[in-house]
Formats: sequence, C-alpha cells, structure tokens
Amino acid sequence: MSAMNEHREKMSAVVTGCTSGLGRSLFNKFSAEGWSVTGCGRRIQLLESLKEDKNADASTVPCDIRLENHVLNLRSVIRAKPGYIDALVLNAGTIGQLPLPAFDQINLMELRRLFESNVFANFNVVQKLLPLMNAKGIIVHITSDASRTPYAGWSGYGASKAAFN
Ligand SMILES: NC(=O)c1ccc[n+]([C@@H]2O[C@H](COP(=O)([O-])OP(=O)(O)OC[C@H]3O[C@@H](n4cnc5c(N)ncnc54)[C@H](OP(=O)(O)O)[C@@H]3O)[C@@H](O)[C@H]2O)c1
Repeated sequence: MSAMNEHREKMSAVVTGCTSGLGRSLFNKFSAEGWSVTGCGRRIQLLESLKEDKNADASTVPCDIRLENHVLNLRSVIRAKPGYIDALVLNAGTIGQLPLPAFDQINLMELRRLFESNVFANFNVVQKLLPLMNAKGIIVHITSDASRTPYAGWSGYGASKAAFN
C-alpha cells in the first residue's frame, strides 16, 4: 500500500464500516501507510477514538450507508480532498439476527433489514462514489464464503452476500 501515485502526493482510500473489526484495521493500516483515507460508520465514539493515532489526511465521517443523505454527505467530505479515490473498500456489513435462526425461524423484517444493509446500502455507496473514483481505481467488496457455501442457519446472511456479489 505504500506506492505513491505519480500525479499527486497521496493515494486515496475509502473504507466503509471503520469503527470495528476488519474495517477498523484497514483504516488504521491505510492511515499508517500515509494514504489519504476516509472511513465511515455509525458509532460516533468509536469514530472519535480513531482520531488519536491517524495521520493528518485520515478522516472519519458519521454515516449510515443505508441513507442517501448520509452517503451524499460522505461524498462531500471526500470531494473536498484532493484527487480521486484509488481504493474503495465496501466492508460495512451485518450478520443480522443472532443467534442465527433456522430457516423456518427467519423473521421476514429482519431478512429485509439484512438485505438493506448488505445489498442496497452498498449500491447506495457505489452509485454515489463512482464519479469520484480514479479511472484505474479499485472497488473491493468484502463478501463471505457463506455467499457460496450453504451453512445451517446462515441462509439469510448468505443470500444477502450472494446478492452483494
Ligand atoms: N468476521 C467474520 O468472520 C467475517 C467473515 C466473512 C465476512 N465478513 C464480512 O467482513 C466485513 C467486516 O466484518 P467484521 O467481522 O469486521 O464486522 P464488525 O466488526 O461487525 O464491523 C462491521 C462494520 O460495519 C459497519 N456498519 C454496519 N452497518 C453499517 C451501516 N448501515 N452504515 C455504516 N456502517 C455500518 C459497523 O459500523 P457501525 O456499527 O459503527 O455503523 C462496523 O464498523 C462484513 O462485511 C462481514 O460481513 C466477516
């Protein structure tokens, strides 16, 4: 990740869901490697706690990616930074109902919420941020082997990740 773009000083990345888990690690890695990185998530305190050790061009934006106005605000923050997005990491996601329900126990509203987060929210992000992508930039989507392999209890999540794929 340390390569520099010949046309400007810094490479630029966006990481959705940077408050915990993989997204938080990726945000910190991009930041440590000197990228201009923008991360988003809903938990404000966890976004705030990322500020302590990030570089000057790393920023976090409170954003629920399911909401169009939130993603438009995220886009405004990214647009204000120099250059285009080199790497967009679609990491934000949810596993939904826990404990994972057997097929006949899946709540239809919960299933809809799962698709809202794992599918439609990502459509929202890609649609809004595509105009800001570098033509040679990459979009990385964090899927799951459950999208291809049937595991007992994972059908709702797996179906949402399959749709995401
Ligand atoms: N953990 C695993 O074993 C595993 C395996 C295969 C795939 N995955 C996938 O890998 C990705 C990361 O997983 P993880 O284990 O690191 O999960 P995690 O710790 O639960 O983190 C999920 C991140 O997504 C964010 N997020 C969820 N819904 C959001 C929304 N509507 N708007 C904005 N941000 C949202 C959360 O932030 P806020 O709550 O602050 O909004 C959080 O930062 C997910 O897509 C997951 O499906 C995980």
